[in-house]
Amino acid sequence: MKRLYLIANWKMNKTAADASAFCKEFSHEWAQEKEKTVVICPSFTALAKVCEEIEESGIKIGAQDLFYEDQGPFTGEISAAMLREFNVSYVIVGHSERRRILMEPDELANKKAKAALRSKIIPVICVGESLEERNAGKMKSVVERQLKTALEGISEADARNILVAYEPVWAIGTGNNAAPAQAEEMHAFIRAVLEKIFSKDLSKKVPILYGGSVKPDNIEMMTKQQNIDGALVGGASLDPKNFAQLVKNA
Ligand code: PGA
Repeated sequence: MKRLYLIANWKMNKTAADASAFCKEFSHEWAQEKEKTVVICPSFTALAKVCEEIEESGIKIGAQDLFYEDQGPFTGEISAAMLREFNVSYVIVGHSERRRILMEPDELANKKAKAALRSKIIPVICVGESLEERNAGKMKSVVERQLKTALEGISEADARNILVAYEPVWAIGTGNNAAPAQAEEMHAFIRAVLEKIFSKDLSKKVPILYGGSVKPDNIEMMTKQQNIDGALVGGASLDPKNFAQLVKNA
């Protein structure tokens, strides 16, 4: 049985108090299964609370972003070492909201992934095309460019500690998930790109998650696909009962 990753991306939602209430309820609702890894990515200000609440629960902690330098004059930024203090073991890089709203270029995802790897944090590298790019038939070239840039200069040994998330921009927060076969086609393509950059062996080992309007009632169809190893979940991860159900259905 393949390992599944279910990662909650809370985005800019939940204060520390809200996060604490979520963790209390989620731990009642959630039944741990050894082949599923559950990760919660709260906002930076709720990390300490989540870290305290989920201690020894088996739930992992992730962050939604980090900066690529280890320290210095970078007002407002957060380093990998700062995240490590709160047991952060995963970090999202290159999310389309940061690419689109904060104008983050492809190269930034690369620098951030390297910074995460230096600190033994697993980067969750997000890639995905916009609706215009899909309509123009450019989804594969866009995803290939984003992935190749994000992985530039990363060794095969380090690439064993990454996750990739395919998140078509048109599916994020729209209620309009990619059809399972559509997602599977892109996941198989991402594996082929990984094989080209690294090796067949490596391409089989990197978990590739799907993200974009994943809900308790569509997760099963997604994770049944051969090349889909879990999901990055936004909206449906905000309610503890809903997210526990989603994890169960995966
Ligand atoms: P969504 O967000 O589940 O709300 O579509 C997914 C994401 O942006 O990671």
